[in-house]
Amino acid sequence: MSTHTESDGAAEIDLADFIAGLPKCELHVHLEGTLSPELKLALAERNGIAIGQTTVAEVEATYQFDSLASFLAVYYPAMNVLVTADDFRDLAYAYLTKAASQGVRYVEMFFDPQAHTGRGVPFSTVIEGYRQAIVAARAELGISAELIMCFLRDLSAEFAMATLMESLAHKDWIIGVGLDSDERDNPPSKFAAVFARARQEGYLLTMHCDIDQVGSIENIRQALEDIGVDRIDHGTNIVESPALVDHVKRRGVGLTCCPVSNSFVTDDMKATEIVSLLRDGVRVTVNSDDPAYFGGYMTENYAALADHAGLAPADLLRLARNAFEVAWLTPRARDAYLADLEAYAAGFGLAS
Ligand code: ADE
Ligand code: ZN
Repeated sequence: MSTHTESDGAAEIDLADFIAGLPKCELHVHLEGTLSPELKLALAERNGIAIGQTTVAEVEATYQFDSLASFLAVYYPAMNVLVTADDFRDLAYAYLTKAASQGVRYVEMFFDPQAHTGRGVPFSTVIEGYRQAIVAARAELGISAELIMCFLRDLSAEFAMATLMESLAHKDWIIGVGLDSDERDNPPSKFAAVFARARQEGYLLTMHCDIDQVGSIENIRQALEDIGVDRIDHGTNIVESPALVDHVKRRGVGLTCCPVSNSFVTDDMKATEIVSLLRDGVRVTVNSDDPAYFGGYMTENYAALADHAGLAPADLLRLARNAFEVAWLTPRARDAYLADLEAYAAGFGLAS
């Protein structure tokens, strides 16, 4: 990776070093998308489940996707190896270990309860495992984490509502709700009542508006104007609508972008769109999405975007700052993370 000389010629910054040490905040990672081939094989053996593969190479050979739908067709069956609370704990702890090693200080993690309750695993088992991992990681790794419960949009609104009701017993461990899975023919409006109720229950709201979907702009409009989401996951098609760009700027709505994932499910990482939004003052952020499948955790996503778009350290700093700013943190925690980030930048001669 290249070095970057600041315009006053004062300092030459190695971008890889800068990215490695950058205090990071991740807002778009699916815990089930962090299931590595190694852990998948280990859990299959532990639970006596035949998955059809016995080596990492065989598992990786099944990773053939070029669209959201083809990715999801690989992603859901893999979850069958997750059965006990220990499995969910090990999954989340492995991700948190990796994230902490890459300088992630705070993360809001998606999980898909319906992908588990739908095959007979109790909601409480899923939450118990994730909760144990969060508590242990905070004490042992110094990384803080929250959970965002996603509804599967290709299933019914009734099932989503029932899941919302079931989640209330675990509300202390869930900070907000999201919407994921196959967007085609499953617009935000389908879940308007579920999201209205989630808001009433005190959850914060986010929603996937995946890349280059049929009706992307209308779905982004519904998410923003009709549902009133606090954040959007992906959402870079918004560049096609100046009015919606104005909307997110006015309300400070963040867009959680995932460059490496984009290049798997579409034909490019959408660096042009992400950087254009960044320069326009939209709070875009960098995230990993499903890192075990797309091969890039946070560092790799920052590096891929920086390489592709020729970003400077100040741009990377802005991206990291955006994430802490749109995270669902208390003001006190946010200020502390931002102070650490500014101290890091100052060490490279970058003023805030
Ligand atoms: N579930 C896991 N990853 C997803 C993505 N990128 N889009 C929609 N649903 C998902
Ligand atoms: Zn996602």
